[in-house]
Amino acid sequence: MHKPVLLEETLKILINGGGIYVDCTIGGGGHARGILESREDIFLIGIDADETALQIAEENLREFEGRYTLYKANFKDIDVVLRMEGISKVKGILFDLGISMYQIKSGRGFSFEDESFLDMRIDKKQKLTAFTVINEYSEKRIAEILKKYGEERYALKIAREIIKKRKIKPIETAKELADLISSIYPKGGKIHPATKTFMALRIYVNNELENLKTGLEKGIMYLQKNGRIAVITFHSLEDRIVKNFLREKEREGALKNLTKKPIKPKLEEVRKNPSARSAKLRAGEKLV
Ligand SMILES: C[S@@+](CC[C@H](N)C(=O)[O-])C[C@H]1O[C@@H](n2cnc3c(N)ncnc32)[C@H](O)[C@@H]1O
Repeated sequence: MHKPVLLEETLKILINGGGIYVDCTIGGGGHARGILESREDIFLIGIDADETALQIAEENLREFEGRYTLYKANFKDIDVVLRMEGISKVKGILFDLGISMYQIKSGRGFSFEDESFLDMRIDKKQKLTAFTVINEYSEKRIAEILKKYGEERYALKIAREIIKKRKIKPIETAKELADLISSIYPKGGKIHPATKTFMALRIYVNNELENLKTGLEKGIMYLQKNGRIAVITFHSLEDRIVKNFLREKEREGALKNLTKKPIKPKLEEVRKNPSARSAKLRAGEKLV
């Protein structure tokens, strides 16, 4: 079961009265439950690009029937979803980025020990997979992706090894890729040697940074005065986008930045849920 990260802190900063809220990354519905429980006068629109997530959310939210509606969509298309619902303004928008535990364990190649196909798609209907990137892209392009989206120091060395290995046989599973990286990576680091490569591939395959920028820009257009937007990120590239977005909108007079410094999980939460350790919450309130 996925534990919602920074749940209390998110509800405290996001909920600012009754109305329509959009959970752009409904996942298992953990935050959504909290939102619906917090007030009876809230209606929730839940979005997820992963069909399985929506099925899990549906089960978890059954008791709130009639107070929510779910959409399989990419949050970059939040405007399309809201237009379909006939909604022009909402009271709150939440993004809890990344993937959840069930996806990591779902055999889509997200984890280092995964012996299933090197997939990494959030939306299974999408064409591009990590397998294509690793087995068809040039050495230069692979190295660029690892550097740009993973800030991986050994990007070129890893890309070179990938090209060498795939000449013998395609790199088919996440474990094969993780083992290949471990075999050439300097020993003794605190994190798994493949961490940055896997992060880069996931971001690239799912176009995560561009989707986030589009989702934020479109989302804020639908936010009513005093409505709030909250975003939970899990790595610095995402956090930078959110930080700059809030600063820019504050400069334009559209938003009040509610988090000059990001809110981080307490030690107690990290102890109970280690995957919360890199989480950062930022939020803003619409002024006009
Ligand atoms: C960390 S989980 C959310 C967990 C949820 N807040 C909960 O408490 O159960 C992130 C979810 O966002 C979804 N997701 C990631 N990128 C997306 C995108 N661009 N559009 C829609 N959903 C996306 C993933 O499929 C995943 O279910």
